[in-house]
Amino acid sequence: MQDVFDVIVIGGGAIGATSAWRLAQTGRRVLLLDKTRLGSEASSAAAGMLGAQLEVAEPGPFYHLCLESRALYQGFVDELFDATGIDAQLTHNGILHLAYTAAEAEALQNRRIWQTSAGAKAEWLDSKTVAELEPALSACLGALLLPDDSNVYAPLLVQALAVAAKQTCTVMEGVEVTDIEPHPSHGYTVLTPTGNYAGESVVITAGAWAQRLLQPFSTPCAIQPVKGQLLSIRPRHAQRFRHTIFSDDVYLVPKRDGTVVVGATEEHDAGFNRDVTADALLSLLSAAHHIAPALKDAVFERSWTGLRPGSPNGQPWIGEVAQFPGLHVAVGHFRNGILLSPVTGNMVVKSVTGEAWPTRWQPFHVAGAASRGVLQNESR
Ligand code: FAD
Ligand code: GLY
Repeated sequence: MQDVFDVIVIGGGAIGATSAWRLAQTGRRVLLLDKTRLGSEASSAAAGMLGAQLEVAEPGPFYHLCLESRALYQGFVDELFDATGIDAQLTHNGILHLAYTAAEAEALQNRRIWQTSAGAKAEWLDSKTVAELEPALSACLGALLLPDDSNVYAPLLVQALAVAAKQTCTVMEGVEVTDIEPHPSHGYTVLTPTGNYAGESVVITAGAWAQRLLQPFSTPCAIQPVKGQLLSIRPRHAQRFRHTIFSDDVYLVPKRDGTVVVGATEEHDAGFNRDVTADALLSLLSAAHHIAPALKDAVFERSWTGLRPGSPNGQPWIGEVAQFPGLHVAVGHFRNGILLSPVTGNMVVKSVTGEAWPTRWQPFHVAGAASRGVLQNESR
């Protein structure tokens, strides 16, 4: 008789690897399948900002989900370090969101007001203070300092997650799932070109590729790839940034190795294309040069792309699919899948084990998604 896993997780990015690792920690036998290598897609392409306050433009459940996940991060990376010896380089350097126009300054002041009234730290800095803190920047009108937003080095985070998953789960790389079929006795059969696998439960965490697997189950999820192009540079020593720098056109994320990640395009119509284009490099570099002219002699290191798993409102769908007991999803993390990995792992565990979800997570439950009336980019 075919070996039946307790759970099969399809897709080993940050979301799938975290979910698989957490599920294995509950004592379940977990099979984690990936069509390429664990973590090789959006998750290792990410800039690694944990921008819980940065990335959310209005109060609401998504803001609280982001804060909840950010609060879990230190424990998450410490546990990964203890398990794997890999340091994801969580850096509490804060994010400076710059304003160059009166409208940007006003929007940031509004954000400061609602975020501080909701108990978070957010401080408006005038242009002189910004210049003292970050001398490499050009003159701006001021900036919102978000001291508790931090960053990790995404490639190391996913490396640690991959090792943790391999220690606790059966992992198969280079295995693409082509179909998922309900089975009368053992839950689901997962079909691949090289063999089929049986699981009591299945979790779809296939990132930007999830739509094809979700389609037969008539879920309300609509996942589309949203291409992002980035590059990294190595500034001369005197131009090192103390904070992550964010403007409406570009962001600069300093890493511990002295490089700065410069990102990112947000291309909704590029499909699965992964080209690095001259146009994107030109616009990222000229935006970087505009906010930090001192970077002009920084050394170019590399450029790359990633495909964000886009959802209509930029927020994830998680949980068990209606009418398909044992079939779960964790998809659509769009711009914040690195930030949201720790809380998503907890949500997936509760979903698979059948424990009740707290009320605060209900807005992200896949079963309620159809009624949410979500709009494109509502979250930013
Ligand atoms: P992925 O990492 O893409 O993983 C999906 C996995 O599923 C892949 O490994 C793929 O091979 C596998 N797969 C797909 N289909 C199948 C199949 N049929 N069978 C088997 N395996 C399959 N987030 C942040 O929090 N902070 C940031 O600063 C940040 N910056 C970003 C910058 C850019 C340019 C991009 C592109 C993304 C950024 N993100 C950021 C977003 C973040 O990277 C994503 O939200 C997150 O990585 C999504 O994780 P995932 O596991 O769902 O997807
Ligand atoms: N969160 C940054 C990005 O998606 O580009």
